Amino acid sequence: MNIKIALLSGDGIGPEIIDQAVKVVKAIAGKFNHKILIGEGLVGAIAIDKAGDPFPDETFDLCKRSDAVLFGAIGDPKYDLDPKAIIRPEQGLLAMRKKLGLFANIRPVFTFPSLIEKSPIRPELIENVDIIVIRELTGGIYFGEKGRYDNGNTAFDTNLYTRQEVDRIVRLACKYAMNRSKKLTVVDKANVLETSRLWRETSQDIVKEFPELQTDYMFVDNAAMQLIQNPKQFDVIVTENMFGDILTDEASVISGSLGLLPSASIGKLTSVFEPIHGSYPQAKGKNIANPLGTILSAAMMFEYVFMLEKEAKLIREAVSSSLDNNFTTEDISDSNPKKTSEVGEWIVNYVLKRNI
Ligand code: IPM
Ligand code: MG
Repeated sequence: MNIKIALLSGDGIGPEIIDQAVKVVKAIAGKFNHKILIGEGLVGAIAIDKAGDPFPDETFDLCKRSDAVLFGAIGDPKYDLDPKAIIRPEQGLLAMRKKLGLFANIRPVFTFPSLIEKSPIRPELIENVDIIVIRELTGGIYFGEKGRYDNGNTAFDTNLYTRQEVDRIVRLACKYAMNRSKKLTVVDKANVLETSRLWRETSQDIVKEFPELQTDYMFVDNAAMQLIQNPKQFDVIVTENMFGDILTDEASVISGSLGLLPSASIGKLTSVFEPIHGSYPQAKGKNIANPLGTILSAAMMFEYVFMLEKEAKLIREAVSSSLDNNFTTEDISDSNPKKTSEVGEWIVNYVLKRNI
């Protein structure tokens, strides 16, 4: 198969972790006889520096021409320290999500047997956790009208959802849940927010079309607690943009490290695959960041875009094996941490050596 990938490495540790994912993708392609064509695009702070725009048109065109986008991370402390900055790197990520119509962000949360003991959560609570959080990605408070008045002394962000936006994401979540254990949790704040009441009302209508589905509704504050206290009760969670952002960072504690979790953003145009973590600027250029979330995002790409199950499975197996062998970066290994590139090479070697 010919596979055209747009690489958007972005900022911070983005280029280092993307390098590892590319090595793995190329190894898989060699093994299974695929042809990989790679185009590189600017996004984030580096795109502001080089092109004056965090998501330049050339990058958008490259994404549209590609079969899939592999995305690193964006963000730069120089913008975080300057709340008055008018152009910000994060706008590049948001523009990409909006322009590509990526309304669904699929974030699986799972455990690795070899990491269970290292979690700050008791092992018996997290063993075999297997959750999919479906985060709405192109609406809500991220995209509603925002601004200042009163000479800059009053600020507002608007949380806005249409029934159609809620309908399409909840419907997608219902289909996911039907292919798994037929259990869906809709997370909202319907005791306070009007948008959440629209979510709940719309969800209640849609689930009628899926009579076999067991649906629970949970307020987000309670969900935040339940995720740590009893994560095994969840299977598919669907929620709005901001709640999904927060809950998935929290849920990464179940896996053992924020550096481990992949995601797929799907919607109208080309799908994007990216780790859920940020640009980790303190680690930039140090070759210490965990590349596994990005490598696992590449596995999701093979599966979601190209229906290449065996390729995805081999990547996951290699990642698990690296963890079993304690061949990991410093966020996980306290005794003998390995470098980002060493972990990437280990995974590549595993892939190359494996008989298929
Ligand atoms: C994420 C990130 C982004 C978000 C930031 C970098 C804008 O936290 O993908 O979860 O909030 O969506
Ligand atoms: Mg986030």
